[in-house]
Amino acid sequence: MALLEVRDLHVFYGNIEALKGISLDAEPGQIMAILGGNGAGKSTTLRTISGLLRPRSGTISFEGRSIVGLEAHVIVGMGLSQVPEGRRIFNILTVEENLNLGGYIVRSHRDLIRARKAEVFKLFPRLAERRAQLAGTLSGGEQQMLAIGRALMSEPKVLMLDEPSLGLSPILSRSVLKTVREVANRGTAVLLVEQNARQALAIADRACVIETGSVVLEGDAATLAKDERVQKAYLGGFEAVASG
Ligand SMILES: Nc1ncnc2c1ncn2[C@@H]1O[C@H](COP(=O)(O)OP(=O)(O)OP(=O)(O)O)[C@@H](O)[C@H]1O
Ligand SMILES: [Mg+2]
Repeated sequence: MALLEVRDLHVFYGNIEALKGISLDAEPGQIMAILGGNGAGKSTTLRTISGLLRPRSGTISFEGRSIVGLEAHVIVGMGLSQVPEGRRIFNILTVEENLNLGGYIVRSHRDLIRARKAEVFKLFPRLAERRAQLAGTLSGGEQQMLAIGRALMSEPKVLMLDEPSLGLSPILSRSVLKTVREVANRGTAVLLVEQNARQALAIADRACVIETGSVVLEGDAATLAKDERVQKAYLGGFEAVASG
């Protein structure tokens, strides 16, 4: 049994069916890349796992227990943490204050908070230099690092990232994704939603492609990177030029 098992999820917004039977797994130490075009249902998938949306049908089990219907904060407490699309850090708080909020569920354990902050600073040295800076004045890449760092403060067993490279230069996004690889190497299961298919497949173990609410392809990342359909739809043209 996988650490996280999603089976046959159907999710509706009103009477529009956004997910039409999504299934996927996440395993400790592995990155599962979730690819797909705009409006395919990638964010909806993550938001349903996080408990922000309720599926009409389907199952989500974590460590063998069903988490469907649990409140989002309970799901975070169990060890699943999401970095939403568009970062959503607190601009008027400092870097360090943002990280403290990420450790909210262990707020009474000051030593634990301190130790986890030290880990985040080790992973993102740039945040350490800027710990007292207001988050709103960080660069785009630094804000993304902070958003990931904040999610790591709860020491998740499953880390879900929704387009961490959005708006970043190819160099910076490569560096953020490299850090995501390091996080996985320490044993965390990662679900990585990415528009940058080339970079995502380069660091992922497995990958799936979602189109209009369904998984149309799934397999190990290296195999998918060679798949003609993936190359045509997600690795062609401008992308190839832009990221070398
Ligand atoms: N709150 C909402 N109300 C109604 N429809 C929604 C809502 N959120 C998303 N949708 C629709 O559900 C579908 C899936 O959206 P979703 O945000 O999951 O796509 P995505 O794969 O993350 O796309 P993108 O790459 O553009 O972020 C889209 O057709 C979208 O318009
Ligand atoms: Mg999205």
